Amino acid sequence: MSMKLHLNFVNVPLPARIVSIVDEAPDIKTFVIRYDRSAQVLPGQFVMLFPGRLWEIPISVAWTGDEEIALTIARVGKVTSALFQMNVGDKIGVRGPYGRPWPMDLLRDGRVLFVIGGLGLAPVLMAFEQLNKATLVYGARSSRFLLYRDRYDRWKREGKEVLLTVDRASEEWDGHVGVVTTLLDEEIVSSHDYAVVAGPPIMMKFASEMLEKLGMESDRIFLTLENHMKCGVGLCGHCRVGDKYVCVDGPVFSLKEIRRLEEWAAGEVI
Ligand SMILES: Cc1cc2nc3c(=O)[nH]c(=O)nc-3n(C[C@H](O)[C@H](O)[C@H](O)COP(=O)(O)OP(=O)(O)OC[C@H]3O[C@@H](n4cnc5c(N)ncnc54)[C@H](O)[C@@H]3O)c2cc1C
Ligand code: FES
Repeated sequence: MSMKLHLNFVNVPLPARIVSIVDEAPDIKTFVIRYDRSAQVLPGQFVMLFPGRLWEIPISVAWTGDEEIALTIARVGKVTSALFQMNVGDKIGVRGPYGRPWPMDLLRDGRVLFVIGGLGLAPVLMAFEQLNKATLVYGARSSRFLLYRDRYDRWKREGKEVLLTVDRASEEWDGHVGVVTTLLDEEIVSSHDYAVVAGPPIMMKFASEMLEKLGMESDRIFLTLENHMKCGVGLCGHCRVGDKYVCVDGPVFSLKEIRRLEEWAAGEVI
């Protein structure tokens, strides 16, 4: 296969500065970063983040402000641990934004059901906040892991429905208990035109299968994939699935497109 060339990219990290760090949940922080960004960030896009040593990692943009982007990051390994040792005022490198965003024009056309697990709320936050007719079905390990809790009341005041669940109830939790799919039924699915799914891969698999079983067509279900990446701009092939590069052809795909990629990778599509 020939290597795809994408010439409209900035391939050198731009200098940036951490302007605030917010504790969101155990081992999850939001880093607000200021840099001279020329391109607008669209909902669902990501940046390549370079903490000054080790290597770059892809991180979704949770929200943007004037010359600022906010990145909600879980500490899972070497680079994210290095980031967690950084402080406000420290310098960092940023490339991007990159990737195919959520199909906002399509989603604005109907009612959208967001089915989200844990950290999956970060890549959908901008899309959810920009849509008027949206329902959030959101699950986390426990209530301490529910992100952006200070926004839920505002979302409800704006007319959005917010349904929360936790896998394990703690003493202060009097809401629903169970995995996120236990909040899905035919009624909720049939009252929406599209679904957006984000979270751990196993959660996305079960949630999208259930949405389909409850009547949502596979080309109306959108997911964001988190494959391993190196260049982020379609050059290295690191993120390839089937005939697509997740960094430029995704990370957002419809369930129908993902099925085709999996079949391609398994040699079932010629
Ligand atoms: C488009 C995109 C958007 C992302 N957005 C976010 C985000 O908003 N917030 C966030 O915290 N993380 C996000 N990630 C995942 C993030 O890039 C990885 O967690 C990070 O690269 C891990 O780096 P590390 O050096 O700390 O961990 P490593 O030492 O590289 O790995 C630690 C463990 O995590 C696993 N791992 C590493 N990267 C990935 C990955 N991409 N997918 C699945 N498992 C992985 C490794 O296999 C290993 O088990 C995103 C990834 C992609 C591709
Ligand atoms: S081609 Fe390099 S990360 Fe996608």
